[in-house]
Formats: sequence, structure tokens, C-alpha cells
Amino acid sequence: MDLTNMPRHVAIIMDGNGRWARKRLMNRVYGHEAGIESVRQVISCCLKWNIPYLTLYAFSKENWARPQSEISALWQLLISFIHKDLPSLIENGVRVIHWGDKEGLPPEVCHAIDEALRETASGKKLHVHVALNYGGRHEITRAARMIGEEILKGNIRPEDVTLDLFASFLFSSGVPDPDLVIRTSGEHRISNFLLWQIAYSEIYVTDVYWPDFREDEFKKAIESYQQRERRFGRTSEQIQQERCVSAL
Ligand code: IPE
Ligand code: IPE
Ligand code: MG
Repeated sequence: MDLTNMPRHVAIIMDGNGRWARKRLMNRVYGHEAGIESVRQVISCCLKWNIPYLTLYAFSKENWARPQSEISALWQLLISFIHKDLPSLIENGVRVIHWGDKEGLPPEVCHAIDEALRETASGKKLHVHVALNYGGRHEITRAARMIGEEILKGNIRPEDVTLDLFASFLFSSGVPDPDLVIRTSGEHRISNFLLWQIAYSEIYVTDVYWPDFREDEFKKAIESYQQRERRFGRTSEQIQQERCVSAL
């Protein structure tokens, strides 16, 4: 792994907890519990490898369709993770940020999130965006609504609505787009995750279930990313030429 060519922002669709547990003849919640350890490892890898932004997809708008017992167990796990890990997150310079809607979340979950945001607010080494009660289409619609309100108030003119202005109304305002999106458990889909921000992200899918995604698997994802040629619409020849010029 080339530590001089690391992604600045990694976004992860943490999938496969249920199947991981089922393979062991266990309840799905057992898989979610095991997945927490992968979250810890991925955070500590980002700290070690100087990756400054990490986005974790923890609960989608669509996940409300799951059995209520599983949803409640997920909230309990989140609350206990925050209580257990907050001191080490603070100590390591991690800042926790919530992407998604607070409305609809149980009050005890909101309190735990607020506590995490407040207590880690001065963290500078790694920003961890937790996408919780999040949907990409909801985020875009929300931005459109806010822009509409600003136009009505006369603060913005329709012709001021550029790509940059639009992006400034998203949860990710000010954060570079993900360089790398990882999805575990072999599913080749986006599931309403960061639709705007991943326009030019590199995508890495692994068959490994989330509870088995630890440092070595993360390293493989980064190594795959480092093999890619990011062309952003240009030709390979142009990219090579630019590389030669900048090496001079
Ligand atoms: C991902 O694992 C965790 C969440 C969506 C909260 P799943 O629970 O989706 O696991 P599978 O896909 O059923 O195996
Ligand atoms: C995506 O996983 C959401 C999270 C990881 C939080 P799902 O398991 O819910 O995705 P689908 O429904 O199979 O696409
Ligand atoms: Mg799943």
C-alpha cells in the first residue's frame, strides 16, 4: 500500500451482518454486534493511514421497513457504542458528524448522537460522518427545498443555483467527494447512498461480510483503489502526459 496515494475520503456501505450471523446459525442482531468491531478497526485504520474523512452508512431510510425488534436492537447497539467508545474517539481526534434526518429517530438515539457530536466537536484528525436515517434522494430533495426557500426570501436568484451552490446545501457541504466507495457482502448496488457525492468515486465491492471486514480487507480495498486510473472524462494519454510533466 502506497501511503502517499491514499484516498482522502472513503465511504462504506456496511452490508452483510445478517448473512454473517445466519451462517453461524445466530440471530441477525449477533451480526450487527460483530459489525461494531469492524467499525472500530476501520476508524483506527483511517487514523493510522491519515485518511481524513470517513462516511459510514449505518441506517437507511429504507431500513425502517425491517422488523421493529431489529430496529430497536440497532438503536441499542448505537447508543452503547457511543457510550463505550466516546472517550477513545475524543482522545484520538475523531469528530463525529451526523448525515441524515433527526426527525423520526427515538429521543434516546437523538440524545446519544447529540452527545457524540458535542463531545467530539474539536476533533481534527478524522471526520466520521455517520449516515443514519439517511437517503440520497431525500438529501437532494431537502437541498432543493432549502434553496427554494432562499429564493422565495430573495436571498438567492435562480441563476445563482450552480453545482457548487447546490452542493453547499447538502449534508456534505465543505467535504470533498468520496474517492472510494466500498460495499461489503457482494451486492452491486448503491441503495440510496450519497447519490450526488459519488458521481466520480471509485467503487470497490467485496464478497466479505461486514463483520469480517477488518484491517487486511480494508488494505485490499485501498490497494485496488491505488491501481485505478482516475480519468474524470479525459483520455488515458492525457493523464500519462500530465504525470510526466508534473514529474519534471
Ligand atoms: C447491514 O447488514 C447493516 C444494516 C443495514 C443496518 P444487513 O443487516 O443488511 O445484513 P444482510 O444484508 O441482511 O446480510
Ligand atoms: C444498505 O444496506 C444500508 C446500510 C448499509 C445501512 P441494506 O442491506 O439495507 O441494502 P439493500 O436494501 O439490500 O439494498
Ligand atoms: Mg443488507
